[in-house]
Amino acid sequence: MERTIENLRQLIRAGRALTPADTVILNGNLVNVMTSEIYPADVAIFQDMIVAVGDVSAYRGPKTQVIDASGSYLVPGLIDGHIHSECSKLSITSFAKAIVPSGTTSMVSGLDEYISVSGLEGLKEVFAEIKQSPLKVFWGAPYKTPYTFPTSTISCNFNPEIHEQVQQWPECFGVWETVREAVQELDEDTLGALSLAYKNRLPIFGCAPMARGNDLNGYLCGGVRLDHESYDHQEVVEKLRKGMHMVIRESSVTHFLAENIRAVTQVNPALARRVSFCTDDVTAKDVVEKGHVDHLVRLAIKAGVAPMTAIQMGTINSAEAYRIDHLVGSISPGRIADILLVDDPATFKVHTVITNGKLVARNKKLTYDLRAPKRSSLLSSALKCNLTVAKDFEYRVQLANGKAKVLSMEVKGPFVRKRRDVTLDVVDHVVHSDTKQDVLMVSVLERFGINGNKSLAFCSGWGLKAGAMASSAAPDDNNIIVLGANAQDMAVAVNHLITEGGGQVVVKDGKILDFLPLPVGGIVCDLEPQEVARREDGINASARLLGCDLPEPLMYMFFLPITAIPDYAITDVGPVDCVALTTFDPILELIEHT
Ligand SMILES: [Fe+2]
Repeated sequence: MERTIENLRQLIRAGRALTPADTVILNGNLVNVMTSEIYPADVAIFQDMIVAVGDVSAYRGPKTQVIDASGSYLVPGLIDGHIHSECSKLSITSFAKAIVPSGTTSMVSGLDEYISVSGLEGLKEVFAEIKQSPLKVFWGAPYKTPYTFPTSTISCNFNPEIHEQVQQWPECFGVWETVREAVQELDEDTLGALSLAYKNRLPIFGCAPMARGNDLNGYLCGGVRLDHESYDHQEVVEKLRKGMHMVIRESSVTHFLAENIRAVTQVNPALARRVSFCTDDVTAKDVVEKGHVDHLVRLAIKAGVAPMTAIQMGTINSAEAYRIDHLVGSISPGRIADILLVDDPATFKVHTVITNGKLVARNKKLTYDLRAPKRSSLLSSALKCNLTVAKDFEYRVQLANGKAKVLSMEVKGPFVRKRRDVTLDVVDHVVHSDTKQDVLMVSVLERFGINGNKSLAFCSGWGLKAGAMASSAAPDDNNIIVLGANAQDMAVAVNHLITEGGGQVVVKDGKILDFLPLPVGGIVCDLEPQEVARREDGINASARLLGCDLPEPLMYMFFLPITAIPDYAITDVGPVDCVALTTFDPILELIEHT
């Protein structure tokens, strides 16, 4: 965010009431998150900035627009402290349509899924899209990409040379999601990014689930300022006591708020000052049905947090954690005019949204027609890999016939996979998956035309009795992931994505049961949020027809390549032991028929 000298001159004059305001908001009650007070106050806005709060009669001119806030409370625009909006499968434009009407006006994001598929040039195109949307994105430059250990394949390898460049960009507000393993293992590229951040005075955003004691101390000595992943409230308390800002995560698949908030409601209310909220990964359906950060504010109030404190967690606390409180997070002169009109702090229903000084949403809908921009080929969904055949998904071994003891990755939660040893039949050199034992084949195919990598392994916990499902959206690499009960359907699913140009698909007996196209980079689409929510329901229902009873079948599958969380994952270079940080051979033993 830049201000020219001429722009500052205009703003300062407007602040002194020498130039009439463009808009005034009258008769509302101000929720002052800086002082924890609520009192009647009017607001004057010039261009995109709040120039006065209180008695603004001196700021009104003949052309000044008036917004009447009688009976409403004025609350700063909400901030999502950590989100991969791409995981909603909504483009920035569609995501803005989903979250701005419920009051989220800013988000902190690495936009890392876009980077993985379209590199820095694609990212610049996304920045342009953000600029023409009502949503602000405070971008953190990924500490490195790919995030995976060992290194997997993506279209853009973020390294210290790139950090030299991007940390100077006006869009860059910090270093994104610096995972604990990368710091702990003293990874050279990671330390390079952190060292540059010190030099450029940028905050380092962390990701250290279950980091405690000495490991946490070491992590903090790397310069990390905040974290958004704690599994219980004691972890939250330790991190807060050691000086971190804590961003409580409540995503569509991980629900930490009720447990994490106990740090405030049960241990010490004073800890609230440095606690804020994020959603990390949300589905379109959840946002449409429940709301976004406004939903987290309501959840916190329900958990026993005072309404003012909960609102501070959704606004100023985030702004301070990310060092953006001079721009957003409060309704004060000099801040950007992102203002919500809500019914009552305790019930927190947002009915009107103003961003950058303009009224953009009323009654949960944008007040104007926001269109997605024309996109270049950088953000096309062409998957650059060869069509597959069933044989590509057959696990072949030396042994002709007999048994194979294999390590199957058993899903135990959206991100957690545990070891499960199973014995499978080997017939004609092929290790057969076995739906009776709930063992499927899983594969990741490199799709950027770089090396044609294809991995193959075994997974459990999905319950599929037939068919296959695949996705070209699969954080953090966004290679194609496919899992299935038989090799034929896996090939059909992958080929459908390649020929259609990206998306998510469910196949049974060679037929496409459902397909959600994701034409923007193969990861997101420009459909309306309600439409994506409907389609998500449909594709999850198709996955359930195959026998899968996980809460979010496609989402659980697309998290399989994430290697940051123990114990197992799979990327294009193979199945990964996330503790040893190596690939592994899933065949434990081959047993000949006797
Ligand atoms: Fe994240």
